[in-house]
Amino acid sequence: MKKILVINGPNLNMLGVREPEIYGNTGYLDLVKKIEKWASELGVEAECLQSNHEGEIVDFIQKAYFDKADAIIINPAAYTHTSIAILDALKAVNLPAAEVHISDINEREQFRHISYAGMACEAHFIGLGLEGYKKALEYFAEK
Ligand code: DQA
Repeated sequence: MKKILVINGPNLNMLGVREPEIYGNTGYLDLVKKIEKWASELGVEAECLQSNHEGEIVDFIQKAYFDKADAIIINPAAYTHTSIAILDALKAVNLPAAEVHISDINEREQFRHISYAGMACEAHFIGLGLEGYKKALEYFAEK
């Protein structure tokens, strides 16, 4: 069974509370439940991890390598737009990766238009709400 690590960055643990007009009303734990359900329907294994700390996200990416994961789905949240360390970690492990953003970062403030992590991702699911995680799971399940 394919093993997929789903990594969420800072403030995504506040889903359902933070700016619901942008990110919706579903909480992080409900997102995790949805991801686990979608994964089991697709016949893949998904492990969900979340951190508010840049270095811990780097550790999660390296864990994907040491755990022999088949792919990474990552929403680095605000670190998307700032973190060379996360970009370098994705390049270092050289695993197939997909970037997810709940909101459409290209339609928001200019500072959200650049995605460093996205430069190491082969697929991008942007502005699709929580469905983006489903589409990313489908992408790797079918690959
Ligand atoms: C986000 C978009 C980022 O710009 C923002 O900092 C987030 C969430 C998204 O999923 O839409 O925290 O990655």
